[in-house]
Amino acid sequence: MKHPKPMVEFAGTGRFLPERVVTNDDLSKIVDTNDEWIRTRTGISTRRISDDATGASHMGAEAARRAMEKAGVDPGEVDLLVVSTATPDRWLPSTACDMQALLGADNAFAFDLTAACAGWLYALSMAEGFLAAGRGEVALVVGTEKMSAIVDWTDRATCVLFGDGAGAAVLKTSDGQRGIISSYHRSDGNLGELLWRPAGGSRMPLDADVVARGDHCLRMSGREIFKHAVRSMAEACDNALQAAGMTGSDIDLLVPHQANIRIIEATAKYSGIDMDRVYVNVDRYGNMSSASIPVALDEALEEGRIEPGMKVLSATFGAGLTWGAMVWSF
Ligand code: ACO
Repeated sequence: MKHPKPMVEFAGTGRFLPERVVTNDDLSKIVDTNDEWIRTRTGISTRRISDDATGASHMGAEAARRAMEKAGVDPGEVDLLVVSTATPDRWLPSTACDMQALLGADNAFAFDLTAACAGWLYALSMAEGFLAAGRGEVALVVGTEKMSAIVDWTDRATCVLFGDGAGAAVLKTSDGQRGIISSYHRSDGNLGELLWRPAGGSRMPLDADVVARGDHCLRMSGREIFKHAVRSMAEACDNALQAAGMTGSDIDLLVPHQANIRIIEATAKYSGIDMDRVYVNVDRYGNMSSASIPVALDEALEEGRIEPGMKVLSATFGAGLTWGAMVWSF
């Protein structure tokens, strides 16, 4: 007989959003765009942009502090700290180690995980496996992104889409009723160049020519990414729901990656979930990559959109390509 896996639950969540709000009209002063185009194509009205001195580690640490406070957990109790980010403070050491120092989480082992927008769900599964295997009691899973540091502010097709922010969750094993019910993760490295930063790593180190071409910035084939996002998120929802023995009608709330309202609507429709059962904040924050789901989850909990006993579906898609979905019980 297959032994049932121990359930791992959310003990607390937290978020951090930089104070500075940048509107579509603000962006129309630096690139050839307008509020109407951005809102109708993406659903985005505003995004938060952090100041120069703030790194991904600072935003992540603030979100983590709030999550630990809600969970009633001290930094010294954290056994594992996984940080999902595509915008690390620097290449060495990891943003997770920088955050460990900021938090005083001295008993944890800390590392970064790179899976772009899908990173936070990947990280949750890593932490779930660690706790379910009995290797520790408390895991802190953070998604933190300073997208403003890597977008090309002269490229109207990408700079209007992204924002900065961080979200976090404390995970613990549960009594078996609440927690992560199912998960499904995939990637396809053959399509990596649909959304990428060509330079700045070991294959094409930074030099003056690279910077002059803007090859250290994010590049994207928007239409292709859109098609893959819709298809992959639908596939991921199907598989996560099936693994949970559920259909869309069993789901109380969908908390999707917040990249574009049209991708969110297509995902919800495919899974048979009405938009009144979908959490949306892409209008306020734009695409915060791997921070988008934990921020949305924290807001949904705070607003009472998620109550004890509810079933939540989350789905994501990002560079890599990477994608996945999870079903949670609260
Ligand atoms: N303002 C005004 N016009 C613009 C802008 C802008 N900001 N950006 C592009 N345009 C123009 C283009 O130049 C093009 O003009 P042309 O017809 O004269 O050549 C026209 O608008 C249409 O461009 P498309 O790229 O075809 O527009 P589309 O309807 O596909 O929307 C968008 C573009 C919003 C980027 C869409 O493709 C999309 O959302 N893709 C998914 C991208 C995404 O979410 N990536 C995030 C990472 S992955 C993830 O998180 C899911």
